[in-house]
Amino acid sequence: MRRTKWKAASRAALALAGAGALAAGMALFATAPASAGTTLGASAAEKGRYFGTAVAGFKLSDSAYTTILNREFNMVTAENEMKIDATEPQQNQFSYGAADQIVNHARSRGMSVRGHTLAWHSQQPGWMQNMSGTALRQAMLNHVTQVATHFRGQVVAWDVVNEAFADGSSGARRDSNLQRTGNDWIEAAFRAADAADPNAKLCYNDYNTDNWTHAKTQAVYNMVRDFKSRGVPIDCVGFQSHFNNDSPYVSNYRTTLSSFAALGVDVQITELDIQGASATTYRSVVEDCLAVARCNGITVWGIRDSDSWRASQTPLLFNSNGSKKPAYDAVLAALNNGTTPPTTAPPTTVPPTTAPPTTAPPTTAPPTTAPPTTTPPGQGGCTATVTVNQWTGGFVANVRVTAGSSALNGWTVTIGLPSGATVTNAWSANRSGNTGTTNWTNVAYNGQVGAGQSTEFGFQANGTAGSLSPTCAAG
Ligand code: G3I
Repeated sequence: MRRTKWKAASRAALALAGAGALAAGMALFATAPASAGTTLGASAAEKGRYFGTAVAGFKLSDSAYTTILNREFNMVTAENEMKIDATEPQQNQFSYGAADQIVNHARSRGMSVRGHTLAWHSQQPGWMQNMSGTALRQAMLNHVTQVATHFRGQVVAWDVVNEAFADGSSGARRDSNLQRTGNDWIEAAFRAADAADPNAKLCYNDYNTDNWTHAKTQAVYNMVRDFKSRGVPIDCVGFQSHFNNDSPYVSNYRTTLSSFAALGVDVQITELDIQGASATTYRSVVEDCLAVARCNGITVWGIRDSDSWRASQTPLLFNSNGSKKPAYDAVLAALNNGTTPPTTAPPTTVPPTTAPPTTAPPTTAPPTTAPPTTTPPGQGGCTATVTVNQWTGGFVANVRVTAGSSALNGWTVTIGLPSGATVTNAWSANRSGNTGTTNWTNVAYNGQVGAGQSTEFGFQANGTAGSLSPTCAAG
């Protein structure tokens, strides 16, 4: 059973990140729209999301690199340093130095960390490549347990399993030594990760899963639906989104994100790069994420083109000399102009076990805005609305938090649950209490909400929701 969700970096880190986002927002109040931000991370935070990048540990001594990293991003993924070959080079001899360096760099500057990756057919150390059967299964589970335990409390999300499905039209699992240990290896890995770090979000991560019509996308979707129906502890799906001429961005990408989200998982864009870095395509990707309430954030796979695993395709947001490309401007503009719609785009398929929501979507009118310079952040208050999806014996509640006439720098929502209702599972908020009066506070990435803007969290519970009346307080 998953417990707390999205437990992010420390409160100190939250304060740092919040201060950065807030400062950016406030500095612009006099000259620009209230929601405008000047960096990717701050602007994403204003939309209740993060903006991250892959970091190569050996580049942390490059000041041009760290200047951009520290200024622009609020989420970090180790590009190679948390992989199996790096963390367990010899069986049962764990090596965390390079990964710890990245984690410390990030967290000491208020950035959160995504873990990548615990179980993968690739980048296995030699000893693991040569194993099979029960011995490999046990070695894999031990690796998941040890590494997730080491980073417990430091990593907000794990790519527990990476790239386990085959390309092409088969919709089959990828053949690998791990797959040959039995089809249940993926769920076994998730259960081990859950036991080791109950607070991290546990994600399945893959590439070529962006096009909703592709067999691989459908195969992953079916696995996630199956996991959710059987209680396998999965919280999120990562879409690597390496777009290139052979595997281009497609307009049904938003449908893909919203359809997965409708299964009851968060979705994250985890390794974004786009051959040629079309500003239009980058903007579309950002708009698609903003349109899906459970799209938590976007990570680009490197900072400058010269940092990319596909450098010759110049797929990133910064030139090799560190200057911003048109794609950067497009992403920042999309983050600043984008609004979160009241509901996610309708999925093209409906999870089989869920009934239609028993309450209408939130109808909160846009708040009237006071001049931002005269109302200190948080003092404009907030409202909360709830949408309930009830079935016999349980329900899912999605709660929308909307800032009033000034930006929020943290929020608390109180929800009274009827007798017999018990929260079993939650996401995108910290929780106090699981029966009766429950209190919910923001996590690191969704505490800063621009005036009139919204963010969401949710929970699953046993029992009957009845009529829920959430209240919201700033701070
Ligand atoms: O560090 C060694 C160096 O000592 C040696 O001289 C050199 C010679 O080849 O290799 C260096 O290691 C390379 C490493 O990147 C660090 O640069 C490896 O060969 C190379 O294979 C490795 O590539 C990484 C690749 O994953 C391996 O699968 C890329 O950096 C990394 O960006 C890429 O990331 C993956 C994600 O994990 C999963 N999704 C796809 C994505 C792109 O392939």
